[in-house]
Amino acid sequence: SKRVVVAVDGPAGAGKSTVCRLLAEKLGFVYLDTGAIYRALGLVLYEEGKIVKAQRDDGFRWLEEPDINYLRSLPLNFSVMNNRLEIRYRNKLLDEELRLPHVSVLASFVARMQQVRSFATEIQREIGRSVSVVAEGRDSTTVVFPEACLKVYLTASVEERARRRLEDYKRRGVDISFEKVVEEITRRDRADSSRDFAPLSVASGAVIVDTSGMSIDEVVNHLIKLVHIHC
Ligand code: C5P
Repeated sequence: SKRVVVAVDGPAGAGKSTVCRLLAEKLGFVYLDTGAIYRALGLVLYEEGKIVKAQRDDGFRWLEEPDINYLRSLPLNFSVMNNRLEIRYRNKLLDEELRLPHVSVLASFVARMQQVRSFATEIQREIGRSVSVVAEGRDSTTVVFPEACLKVYLTASVEERARRRLEDYKRRGVDISFEKVVEEITRRDRADSSRDFAPLSVASGAVIVDTSGMSIDEVVNHLIKLVHIHC
């Protein structure tokens, strides 16, 4: 059977992760959570001391900007297991820690840097070369897999996205207010759409799917139909 790439992009909280995980399961493809790669890079570059907390705001700054060879030499390992991406740092599986709020900020921070994006793109393409994937992120449709047979821009209103993200946090026991989540989402939307390299945008040939008011199952079934039409 032929190797298939389905690429899905969209803003934070549009339901991409849940929908793409289920879509990949139904298709028997690898679920490629590309945000996890940026989260891991943010976390690891912080751990390795390349990034420090900025003094003035609650952001971060580079102590030393990494080049691609440094990034390739990090004790980070990406592999596919049971159709899922597994990321290890110093041989330890990274999992729950990647979902912490401050790691979201670190991910957005490192994602602004071209060298980091090139490295992350390299990893994604390597995986996409060997197995069928549902790739989900910010530039899967525009930069990483522009040749994907199906490209989807998944979105929803800010309020709906904040509501979903809040539930997500609650489930994981993270204490945070609705207002704070709206703020976080608005800030990340702005950062992700306005950065110089690979800003979040609708790829040419992409199908726009607004999931406001749709259930997860409805979205997944809609995407499966699109896969059958386009791939
Ligand atoms: O999707 P997730 O919330 O896990 O992504 C975390 C951050 O990583 C995003 O806010 C974005 O800045 C960055 N990212 C990216 N390109 C991707 C995936 C994530 O820039 N393909």
